[in-house]
Amino acid sequence: MTERTQVGIVGAGPAGLILSHLLHLEGIESVVLEVHTRKYIEERVRAGVLEQGTVELLTGMGVGDRLKREGLVHHGVEFRFRGQGHRIDFQDLVGRSITIYAQQEVVKDLVAARLATGGKIMFEAADVSVHDIDSKNPKIRYRGGEISCDFIAGCDGFHGVCRASIEKSLTIYERIYPFAWLGILAQAPPSSGELIYANHELGFALLSMRSPEISRLYIQCAPDEDIAHWPDARIWEQLHLRFATHDGQWKLTEGPVIQKNIAEMRSFVADPMQYGRLFLAGDAAHIVPPTGAKGLNLAATDARVLARALADFYTSGSTDVMDRYSEICLRRCWKVQHFSWWMTSMLHRIPGESVFDRQRQLAELDYVTGSRAASTALAEHYTGLPFTI
Ligand code: FAD
Ligand code: PHB
Repeated sequence: MTERTQVGIVGAGPAGLILSHLLHLEGIESVVLEVHTRKYIEERVRAGVLEQGTVELLTGMGVGDRLKREGLVHHGVEFRFRGQGHRIDFQDLVGRSITIYAQQEVVKDLVAARLATGGKIMFEAADVSVHDIDSKNPKIRYRGGEISCDFIAGCDGFHGVCRASIEKSLTIYERIYPFAWLGILAQAPPSSGELIYANHELGFALLSMRSPEISRLYIQCAPDEDIAHWPDARIWEQLHLRFATHDGQWKLTEGPVIQKNIAEMRSFVADPMQYGRLFLAGDAAHIVPPTGAKGLNLAATDARVLARALADFYTSGSTDVMDRYSEICLRRCWKVQHFSWWMTSMLHRIPGESVFDRQRQLAELDYVTGSRAASTALAEHYTGLPFTI
């Protein structure tokens, strides 16, 4: 079966779905091909922090109702080290906030919006491949059919096929970290109203949440850690130790663990993010370590730039933004790469670090939390840099 559309989109993650809906709002047709089932993508546990700009984007697209009702707006974040908490007040420093709303909820809202407005998402599309991307009529093939389009958006994540198909024309920048995160979802009310990033002798720990009843907690572990060696009791023990305060007043509430996973930590950039009529967006083009809470937000801004480039092309024939797509996205991406690397380096115990490195790291935390100038820079990054084209 051969089908025709204007923009063929590979991948129904945040990047692909936001792009598809933005295009729809501009009157541009698209088809999204997703290898997994709808249930799978709507249940996959991943990120949870939305920058203010991402919230504004989703709201502006008409998919912010549930986000506004159920999202938890946070005006600050805590850094805990040497047994003491230090709050960074986003509201006071930059007048902005973040919202806690799970990635799978964003995906559910976007899928519902696409389907309600006649959008086409082909779930369980197998053997997807891209062809003729240096022609004006590129094609996406999948088992049982072909989609002929004007442009292809590769929104198929880090392990997708789109980047792989243009690998030879890319320069890859990569750093793999010598530690990983063991994450749990627990049926326990969050022990703090705001996120806590802890730097402890035993390693990094992060307290986050999904709702007033569900906590999301992470601890630093070895990259080759076997999850079988981490029974729930051991995880809770480490969490208690890493979040403990000197005054002994702070209490961590435990609850049944409902999900457990280990995530590797990587920084990765593919340059350029475009070849012929194929544009990469989101994790297909770049990965950040999760310490800056940026992966989903960066995927959303790529989609926003690409939607604008395509809208300009279809309405006026202008290729100005399209020609600069990679440059615009990579400029933001590298700033976010730096921030994510910096947060990661400042908060984790680095295997093999010297006693000098350790003192320097603690001094950095002391400075960042104690200086208004330094806290402001952190707050500006964490709540999201301004969107510019
Ligand atoms: P994805 O969400 O990966 O979407 C890509 C989509 O393409 C997927 O639905 C996939 O099934 C589909 N696909 C892949 N290959 C094909 C194919 N061949 N054909 C068709 N479809 C295909 N970020 C944070 O900020 N905090 C976190 O805690 C955090 N945790 C994470 C945990 C994990 C396990 C992972 C993988 C990522 C995590 N991230 C986190 C990063 C964040 O979730 C991503 O940056 C975000 O999902 C990027 O969105 P995307 O749309 O670019 O890619
Ligand atoms: C999360 O809630 O999953 C989360 C929060 C902050 C991060 C990473 C993940 O930096």
